[in-house]
Amino acid sequence: MPAFLPFTRPDIDEATIAGVAEVLRSGWITSGPQVKAFEAALSALCGGRPVRCFNSGTATLEIGLRLAGVGEGDEVITTPLSWVATANVVLEVGARPVFVDIDPRTRNIDLAEIEKAITPKTRALIPVDLAGLPVDRDRLYAIAGKHRLRVVEDAAQSFGANWRGSALGSFGDFVSFSFHANKNVTSAEGGALVLPDESLVPLCEQLRLQGVVRSGEDGMEVEVAGGKFNLTDVAARIGLGQLPHLQRFTERRRALARRYFDLLDKNLGCELPVQDFEQSNWHMFQLVLPERCERAKFIARMRDHGIGVGVHYPAMHLFKLYRRLGWRQGQFPHAERVGRSIVTLPLFPAMADSDVDRVCGAVKQVLSK
Ligand SMILES: Cc1ncc(COP(=O)(O)O)c(C=O)c1O
Repeated sequence: MPAFLPFTRPDIDEATIAGVAEVLRSGWITSGPQVKAFEAALSALCGGRPVRCFNSGTATLEIGLRLAGVGEGDEVITTPLSWVATANVVLEVGARPVFVDIDPRTRNIDLAEIEKAITPKTRALIPVDLAGLPVDRDRLYAIAGKHRLRVVEDAAQSFGANWRGSALGSFGDFVSFSFHANKNVTSAEGGALVLPDESLVPLCEQLRLQGVVRSGEDGMEVEVAGGKFNLTDVAARIGLGQLPHLQRFTERRRALARRYFDLLDKNLGCELPVQDFEQSNWHMFQLVLPERCERAKFIARMRDHGIGVGVHYPAMHLFKLYRRLGWRQGQFPHAERVGRSIVTLPLFPAMADSDVDRVCGAVKQVLSK
């Protein structure tokens, strides 16, 4: 049996490993010059807009909401098909997440449903680019503009993707990226928030680290209750070492995704993702299994073939926490069905073409039984 093939694996080069060792020896391992350098490099990729790094993509979303003025009594419209962080942060700032169904083709929020869910309390939208496929930014910002809503783009999965040729992060309102270990570009844990306006930088930095403002040799003041969300230099050095590979990573992912489309048997009853090889960064390659197939069995059988399969994600309005807030089964049939049957097949830049062949062969065997 060939080696186990996980559904993803970070790709860290030797220069980065050496660079991290240098940081560790330098005497300065938490936020410092590496974080500043990482922020500058990210800003360059985001059209020169201000970027601040955080210790997670969850922190970036939460601070994005706070900077957008979202708080107690507000409503924020988002998708039920995402990592639960997307909605948890809304609760964290005292607001109410309002879910609308997904478009089953893109698996992203159904933009046509957003306007129906807007109330006088709606303050912001959180679109999520599931698997790296961008939400239609033209329609999204048209809706936000018409209703004067703020947008915190949850682009945790779509770093390196673009909308009509413009890199995500280089335009729009707040844009939040994650550099969690599974993401296309990683710092082990970490995130970056792109700000719509330079004037927000001081408050952003205060919310990131205990609200502290330093001045002169010994001055310190605190006016807001910030958190503890700063990125370490160790993590930033990992992230910096990833950026030179971004384009290659994305191209390789696109090539592997194309191969999946070429080789997957179309008669197995699976729903395939949208074939977007220009805009998506192909963070994941996801199938929706036919209803007849029990997902847990599929995962176990694929593991028997030496292949890792992920689940991203169950529809989050059905978690107990969200049911307690009034959300119920049957409200979002597309998200519920996709959330029950979606699986993530292996896709990462170091995969060989033959790995895709092996996965496709195993999928066929498992689903044909
Ligand atoms: C869509 C989405 N939103 C938010 C997050 C949160 O990012 P992090 O794990 O860096 O906190 C993730 C990461 O898994 C994600 O996939």
